[in-house]
Amino acid sequence: MSALHLSQRGALAPASPIRRLTPLADAARERGLVVHQLNIGQPDIATPPAMIAAYRSYDERVLAYAPSDGFRAYRERLATYYTELSQDGGGATVSAADIVVTVGGSEALLFAIAAVCEPGDELLVCEPFYTNYAGFSHMLGVNVRAVTTFAKDGFRIDPERVEAAIGPKTRALCLPTPGNPTGVVLSRADLEALAAICRRRNLYFICDEVYREFVYDGPEGSRAASLLSLADFDEHAIIIDSVSKRYSACGARIGALVTRNKALREAALRFGQARLSPATVDQYAAMAALDTPPSYFREVVSEYRARRDALVAGLRGIGVDCALPAGAFYLVAPLPIDDADRFCRFLLEQFDLDGETVMLAPASGFYATEGLGRTEARIAYVLDVPRLERCVTILGSAFAAYRAQKDVGRR
Ligand SMILES: Cc1ncc(COP(=O)(O)O)c(C=O)c1O
Repeated sequence: MSALHLSQRGALAPASPIRRLTPLADAARERGLVVHQLNIGQPDIATPPAMIAAYRSYDERVLAYAPSDGFRAYRERLATYYTELSQDGGGATVSAADIVVTVGGSEALLFAIAAVCEPGDELLVCEPFYTNYAGFSHMLGVNVRAVTTFAKDGFRIDPERVEAAIGPKTRALCLPTPGNPTGVVLSRADLEALAAICRRRNLYFICDEVYREFVYDGPEGSRAASLLSLADFDEHAIIIDSVSKRYSACGARIGALVTRNKALREAALRFGQARLSPATVDQYAAMAALDTPPSYFREVVSEYRARRDALVAGLRGIGVDCALPAGAFYLVAPLPIDDADRFCRFLLEQFDLDGETVMLAPASGFYATEGLGRTEARIAYVLDVPRLERCVTILGSAFAAYRAQKDVGRR
């Protein structure tokens, strides 16, 4: 019997560089090691009590489907939140009819790319990029075209280079702000410059704003500028959002696609009808989360700022010359070794410091250009300051052990 056929799409789907080393981490734990996980953006911050209480108080007799675009009451509450965000930047109102509730920001991304690209079209991103932009594009037969940004410039995005990369098959620009993995936050002026390009070249702008509240250098309570607030851009703008990071509720799997482009919103709704509905109980919890007081965000942001500062200072102290990220909770660190992939494996397979080691995400998978990111790793600062300081000590010792081992190999 001949082997069953597996599609090229299935056979060639890229493994997530964030999760790829998990079997090695599991094996290290089985050997009794403590593995500090800095590879994945899973925050350790407590979910707001109002959200947890909403889960506990769910008391319906039948756990029914929700509408395909999400509960109207939830979308109306979201519309108030987005309108405030938009008007903060001088933009127009957002209505419940502009929102489709999705299964995490992930599904919003999938719907957005599917709605604007034909198979064979191009999605324009800046590398290093959030790897699932490539994962979803691959599923849809869409090619990723990447504009490289560099650690030495703090991964700054240059609009001229973005425009120069647009080809005949490019349909959309897709960028996160604040950025994963770079921590770059786009200013309003940056958004305006990129939007002007999209207008001129007739592209959609998929703006992934799931880390909106996580900005560290503005006045207290600042949020990253939102694409929703730009004037005369309604037909082009698609906003990706999620409760995962905002409320430290990654397991809720609730996100949103927001657009004032009616045809696009209709397409997203029809995709939503195919998967029937987003989760019911989680939407109630996400609705309750909207009542989270500003003091929660003040505390969380100040905690992440302290983590960022401790991590960057610590890394610089062990010879890692990394840029200070302005937002989200990641940084891309150029490591003082020859091969980050090998080093990340070494950490899990061959190294420990008094029974502890660290898991990082090798950065090559965050680039589309072959060969880039080979000596970089993405680090998520999702652990508290004492644990991050311990991780820096472990890494410092691991660099020395890795180099010593290579020297022995060479002799
Ligand atoms: C930039 C970015 N966009 C979207 C997502 C999707 O998150 P979720 O599906 O949990 O909402 C993530 C998750 O890490 C992310 O980092």
